[in-house]
Amino acid sequence: MNIILLGPPGAGKGTQARHLVETRNMVQLSTGDMLREAKDSGTEMGKIVADVMARGELVTDEIVIGLIREKLAGEKTEGFIFDGFPRTLEQADALGELMASEGETLDMVIEMRVDDAALVERITARSTCGSCGEVYNDKTKPIPADGKCTNCGKENDFKRRADDNEESLKTRLMAYYKQTSPLIGYYYAKDMLKVVDGLASIDKVQGSIGAALDG
Ligand code: AP5
Ligand code: MG
Repeated sequence: MNIILLGPPGAGKGTQARHLVETRNMVQLSTGDMLREAKDSGTEMGKIVADVMARGELVTDEIVIGLIREKLAGEKTEGFIFDGFPRTLEQADALGELMASEGETLDMVIEMRVDDAALVERITARSTCGSCGEVYNDKTKPIPADGKCTNCGKENDFKRRADDNEESLKTRLMAYYKQTSPLIGYYYAKDMLKVVDGLASIDKVQGSIGAALDG
């Protein structure tokens, strides 16, 4: 089953995608993670996108569609989880075409509905393990007192993202409402949309997504 997790910054897309990878053997395709990897490894593309991402704007459709095209080519899996892609109508059309050309179908789009006030709190409290990408939150999922990642055991390697500040978050939210939220109507019209309450606890959201997938 191939699915999209759709929601604003901080909705919990990455957190839930990682759970689906662990429990359902699916493959997470996060364009945000791919772009951050390119930035950290200093590739030409990484240099181009670094400032755009730090400001909270979207990088070009051409770049992200290219990244997804590369990842889809020939890969067979129990299912892809598209996390943070598509983010524009053009990306959504391109994904439909790419899936068809790989003989795959897109089965479900899960909108994680949250409100803006919760997002500021979540985003400014987030950190991730630099080694395995496990997501933490100062309030809801703190880094263990011994400083070891609960997932991979790496010690004291936690990072905060350059775009996790109130100013960039405003730009990211604006980009979501202007460029990405039209996808809700787009997939609703295709009868593919399911909505979950992203404000519930991480466990409850896991349960709602599981029920949507199995229902
Ligand atoms: P991207 O990396 O995709 O970031 P985003 O969409 O802004 O979303 P986040 O990763 O910030 O949030 P999330 O929903 O994954 O939440 P998380 O699970 O971490 O994109 C970054 C940038 O890359 C973009 O701004 C753009 O520049 C570029 N980009 C990427 N894709 C692109 C594309 N397709 N086109 C163009 N540009 C693109 O959770 C957040 C926090 O909340 C964590 O601390 C977590 O522990 C906590 N939390 C999660 N769930 C809950 C819960 N239920 N209750 C309480 N706390 C929770
Ligand atoms: Mg994420």
